[in-house]
Amino acid sequence: MVPGVAVRADRLDDAGYAAAAGRLFASVTAENDMKWQFTEPEPGRFSFAAAERVVGFAEQRGLRVRGHPLLWHLALPAWVTGTAEQMRRHITGLVERFRGRVAEWDVVNEGLADDGTFRVTPFLRTLGPQYIAQAFRIARAADPRARLAYNDYGAESPGTPKGRALYRLVKGLKALRVPLDVVGFQTHAETRPIAGFQRQLRRVAALGVDVELTEVDVKLPAKATPADLRAQATAYRRIVRACVAVARCRGITFWGLDDRDSWIGEFFPRYGNALLLDAELRPKPAYEAVRQELLAAGAP
Ligand code: XIL
Repeated sequence: MVPGVAVRADRLDDAGYAAAAGRLFASVTAENDMKWQFTEPEPGRFSFAAAERVVGFAEQRGLRVRGHPLLWHLALPAWVTGTAEQMRRHITGLVERFRGRVAEWDVVNEGLADDGTFRVTPFLRTLGPQYIAQAFRIARAADPRARLAYNDYGAESPGTPKGRALYRLVKGLKALRVPLDVVGFQTHAETRPIAGFQRQLRRVAALGVDVELTEVDVKLPAKATPADLRAQATAYRRIVRACVAVARCRGITFWGLDDRDSWIGEFFPRYGNALLLDAELRPKPAYEAVRQELLAAGAP
């Protein structure tokens, strides 16, 4: 199983950051630098400088790259109305640019709403639910060797509306022979156990896809106590074990290297401390727990 990390291009100049990211992980995802507003800010005008920095960093160190994301309802320029032409140009622009260099793409990110219906996005409004299948076909044509993923959050439990909707979606796409190789479970978690997580990974994988944990973090209160940090280590341990227990669970990517950069503090007031390294890049109890579990599983 491949351990990975989300990185930010603008942090790669920091030698300590770059060394830690390159040393501890075998895969990287651009946390933001491949998003639509940065890669195609105006119709047909692509800008790849930041994305190239992330991919170049990975290439220097022999790391796998997960491309993230081709279609998402956020970080979208205002001019995107979701036409087939816009979708084709964007997907083809990115996938061809990085052909042979990005091993796996999140083709559609967060296409489901929390109640299990399709999320209302410009693509859904303009093209209907079939935009999902279309996006995968366009991506496959642009790089037949890249592995293609559907990625979402909050679908980690089998019994919730969104957990069930994800299962139905994947089943439907496979029945239509859509080129879908991987289902990514973001796994933005809290310290309490995720109900039925392993079962959900297994039953989705049984539909004929690999599964990965793609954006793992475990949020704590902003003022974390030693007990919080221990509970977090236990939570991380459970998450890694769930993946290790499922043969087709191929990777675990953590959503950032250290607590200084994590999106959690920015998006969830009063929370923080969500990652494996603290703000000074020192390993936390969670780091030790994850390392032990990965070693026991024979991960690189
Ligand atoms: C987040 C980044 O971590 C933040 O820096 C940014 O401001 C917003 O996006 N699901 C996803 C990720 O698929 O792309 C999001 O990343 C977190 C939730």
